[in-house]
Amino acid sequence: MDYKPYIRIIENFPKEGIRFKDITTLLKDGNTYKQAIDEIAEYAKQMQIDIIAGPEARGFVIGAPLAYSLGKGFAPVRKEGKLPSEVISADYDLEYGKDRLSMHKDAIQPGQRVLIADDLLATGGTISTTIKLVEELGGVIVGAAFLIELTYLNGRDKMKGIDVFSLVKY
Ligand code: PRP
Repeated sequence: MDYKPYIRIIENFPKEGIRFKDITTLLKDGNTYKQAIDEIAEYAKQMQIDIIAGPEARGFVIGAPLAYSLGKGFAPVRKEGKLPSEVISADYDLEYGKDRLSMHKDAIQPGQRVLIADDLLATGGTISTTIKLVEELGGVIVGAAFLIELTYLNGRDKMKGIDVFSLVKY
């Protein structure tokens, strides 16, 4: 299916020169949202996955329904100060800015096979930080799935050796 007609492009948001890919227009269409999650789930079913990990906030919109669809758990990767128990954290650069991500120390058990999920692969900063945190907890990354990939930002290059799946490429 061609999902591009459902993704709205907003020029110069949140900064001059950024062509923001707004997925709210896809999410509000129930059939299209379901189809997108189903397609990502088809990819994920080929792998033996124990748990999904996804970064807030838009990563939850993809990762959580995917986990539900597969009958697997979901480990939230959150911006600093949001998780209530003991955490590990790492800094990262964004396409537009800087941030810090955290995971609960008990979010992943050593040896668990983890699929990373997010709405968008841009520079790959968010996902490589997520991978770093999951690996620090002893998780084994089996793949990374995205709704959208901005191929011109070469995020895949930061994920050498990891299977990357994306539904829509720009
Ligand atoms: C966006 C997007 C990805 C990330 C992609 O999240 O949802 O997580 O940026 O960019 P990168 O590949 O260059 O790291 P953002 O940090 O804007 O947070 P949000 O999901 O809370 O809006």
